[in-house]
Amino acid sequence: MILVAGSLNLDLVVRAPIPRPGETVLGGELARHPGGKGANQAVAAARAGGQVRLIGRVGHDDAGSEFRAALAGEGIDVAPVTATNAPTGTALVVVNPAGENTIVVSPGANLHLRPGDLAPGWFEDARVVVLQLELPLETVRRAAELGHAAGATVLLNAAPAWPLADELLRDVDVLVVNEHEAAALLHDVADGAEMADALARRVPLAVVTLGARGVAWAARGGGGRLPALPVTAVDTTAAGDAFVGALAVALGEDQALEGALRFASAAGALAVTRRGAGPSLPRRAEIDALAG
Ligand code: ADP
Ligand code: NA
Repeated sequence: MILVAGSLNLDLVVRAPIPRPGETVLGGELARHPGGKGANQAVAAARAGGQVRLIGRVGHDDAGSEFRAALAGEGIDVAPVTATNAPTGTALVVVNPAGENTIVVSPGANLHLRPGDLAPGWFEDARVVVLQLELPLETVRRAAELGHAAGATVLLNAAPAWPLADELLRDVDVLVVNEHEAAALLHDVADGAEMADALARRVPLAVVTLGARGVAWAARGGGGRLPALPVTAVDTTAAGDAFVGALAVALGEDQALEGALRFASAAGALAVTRRGAGPSLPRRAEIDALAG
């Protein structure tokens, strides 16, 4: 069982040049997709072959019901996704012609998931607990604590960038960050491998994703680099979520570390070949085919 505790945000996506302050631009047709790092990583893990349970909060609104239906349709256990008196989280996403995205998140119901809402029973059968930083920090910390107590591997994707307290990191086994998030955690470290080394002083395994330049990782007693798999990038949205979801599945299957990172890299690479977040998350067979 892969247990994800995280955010659910309805993504409102439009392709457009990214406007400067005060500027109005015309964009393409509006698309609505279930998104948010929690939901995306849950879907990524389910498609990568994991049995997944998701903990989260939505609003008493259409977006909330759409979310539960869409996630259940992916085979995800959504019993711990309940409704609260705030709008479902929403992300306003602009994708520019170069495929780069700019995002504004209105967290809404996500902020209503409190530490006391986390039932220890949800954690008991978890092999891997997957967390990000789009929930209240104290809720993330409590989830890490419950995951650790249950004997699960606790994987924290420290996104969006935020300083990490030792009280949180002491329960984290695997830290995954992209370059920007790593830079926010470290001072004066520019190289990916050095970033991973520095972060591995705080957690057993640190993984820094470097986009098209692949991955740097470090653990006590070793580390390395893994080049990205060569693909044509169309839209980088959700590369990190695909990577994290697939990595959780591989670690839950006890795959050896380098194989697990290659599997995750293949999932990340496939996600950038397609537009959007949810729609671009790859399935097990294609991840296996690319990872080789
Ligand atoms: P995020 O989406 O969090 O910014 P990254 O952009 O670092 O994360 O992407 C996560 C992983 O996805 C990378 O480490 C890499 O394995 C894969 N990936 C991302 N962009 C590309 C790309 N252009 N080509 C191949 N693989 C990619
Ligand atoms: Na994508």
